[in-house]
Amino acid sequence: LHLFPQYTRDDVKKHKSPSDRIWVTYAGEVFDITDFVDLHPGGNRILLAAGGALEPFWALYGVHKSEHVIELLQEYKVGVLSPDDKEPPRDLSDPYSGDPSRHPVLKINSQKPFNAEPPPEMLTENFITPNVLFFKRNHLPVPNINPDKYELVVERPPGAKWAKPLKLSLKDLKTKFPRHEVTVTLQCAGNRRSEMNAIKPVKGLDWGAAAISTAHWGGVWLRDVLSDAGYSEDLPNVRHVQFEGLDQDITGTKYGASISFKRAMSKDCEVLLAYEMNGEELPKDHGFPLRVIVPGVVGARNVKWLGRIIVSEEESSSHWQQNDYKGFSPSVDWDTVDFSTSPAIQDLPVQSAITEPRPGATITPDHDGKVTIKGYAWSGGGREIVRVDVSLDGGKTWKVADLTGEETKGPTWAWKLWKLEATIPDEQKELTIICKAVDSSYNVQPDTVAPIWNLRGVLNNAWHHISVTVDK
Ligand code: HEM
Ligand code: MTE
Repeated sequence: LHLFPQYTRDDVKKHKSPSDRIWVTYAGEVFDITDFVDLHPGGNRILLAAGGALEPFWALYGVHKSEHVIELLQEYKVGVLSPDDKEPPRDLSDPYSGDPSRHPVLKINSQKPFNAEPPPEMLTENFITPNVLFFKRNHLPVPNINPDKYELVVERPPGAKWAKPLKLSLKDLKTKFPRHEVTVTLQCAGNRRSEMNAIKPVKGLDWGAAAISTAHWGGVWLRDVLSDAGYSEDLPNVRHVQFEGLDQDITGTKYGASISFKRAMSKDCEVLLAYEMNGEELPKDHGFPLRVIVPGVVGARNVKWLGRIIVSEEESSSHWQQNDYKGFSPSVDWDTVDFSTSPAIQDLPVQSAITEPRPGATITPDHDGKVTIKGYAWSGGGREIVRVDVSLDGGKTWKVADLTGEETKGPTWAWKLWKLEATIPDEQKELTIICKAVDSSYNVQPDTVAPIWNLRGVLNNAWHHISVTVDK
């Protein structure tokens, strides 16, 4: 009987590159897969799991759920996980101790509050982003909400005959209103901020190009709930619908944002109160048990952990509506900025980015001399992407990429994924790849970042440039 040595998870973590050997764990066992990496039928993605557990990755790639894969893995066994290597106990004085666990592949831009994006090439493997890979943008600790005690509070119209607000339990929401589904891409205003930061420093988390994701959201129309509370489209003196989250800071200040009352009541705008994400109960990070989905509108207005709805003459007075998530001229700096002079961002502009290859990568053309370039394109306000142009020579010549997406009858709320199989000229060693998208209003992206630079680093939708080396 061969007794295998015991290792802790920290021991395994040290083996992440060929020079230190590449280790992974599965079902309490440790494997040295250095010699398998080049044989892996799924390519070098396998390295994403280096130094950690395979389970979260195999949950995403079902091909591994078979006996021959497990048998193959056994050939590389070098040890077992130490049975007393337990997770450290949670520090209950830490307001973030109740945060959920997250997928290890996410690139973390901030741990507390949690902000993270998926690897770009994984983002565009599927039209619908798996929940665990969907970008996560929290300003505060994730609130712990008991779904049995949860109540959505909807304030009544000014001067209404009902004194008390409408209160709806999760069960009320699921049974009293028809269920609807919409496919919506959410994008954070700070997506691609790092490219803006590279021109001149901005304030904010250093997001790459993956603070954008797409899901099927299931729930009830906001307008159905507002009608139930006594609102009608022609009500005078109401202009905004405010959403208050149940997440709060130590002073008790809650996350909040608002959209126009017109949008909230419009059939065409399809604003949803969602309790499901991709057929599952809304995950904790994405607003369990209820969030607002405002199609075509900046992520910030899609309030998670929704506690209260207030219809009013004024916009939300929250920091995030008034003093953040606004655009400015490149000439405005922190000494001169006056947030009251710019409108809060709602509809987002046309956007696209390259997700594969990665900037700085070395790419190898296939035997026909071709490489595959992939990415996403999206526009706000329900505008559909009609074309994506890709250049491999820094913008001198362009090719039109193939688009895939979902057919819609009305407005389009979801992105298109795009792909181009391009032939690389023999002599070419360095490539500058650029993409730019066109939406159904023929809006185009600006060619460079500098003229749209703004102190908060939001709304970066310049042409996405990357440089790669060709290995022939
Ligand atoms: C396919 C083994 C880790 C992604 C496969 C296949 C095997 C395999 C045998 C072919 C399955 C079949 O067609 O029946 C392994 C082993 C791993 C590992 C032994 C760990 C030691 C990973 C990881 C990822 C991954 C970490 C993702 C991050 C894929 C993908 C395919 C695949 C996407 C499908 C490739 C295709 O059909 O084109 N893997 N895998 N694998 N693997 Fe893995
Ligand atoms: N809602 C609450 N209650 N608290 C938040 O911090 N972040 C907002 C929005 N809704 C936030 C929120 C921002 S800025 C974005 S971009 C989206 O949620 C992100 O949604 P996601 O984490 O589901 O991707």
